Amino acid sequence: MVLMIICVCRRINEQGVRTAVAAGARSPEAVQAFHGCAFNCGKCRCAMGETISQTLDETVPDEALLAAE
Ligand code: FES
Repeated sequence: MVLMIICVCRRINEQGVRTAVAAGARSPEAVQAFHGCAFNCGKCRCAMGETISQTLDETVPDEALLAAE
């Protein structure tokens, strides 16, 4: 499995972003903080935001499943 690097400066890959989101991160800044760092150049901000959105879209809350039944 090949994981895309999201933040080159801080060496955070796609799985790293997903792990941070699972732990409650909801912004690129929160993902950086989860990994104990902060933005350097900031060029990853957009890609990181998209990965956060994708991860949240793929996560179906239990309440939504119950409501659908
Ligand atoms: S690529 Fe993420 S701070 Fe530079």
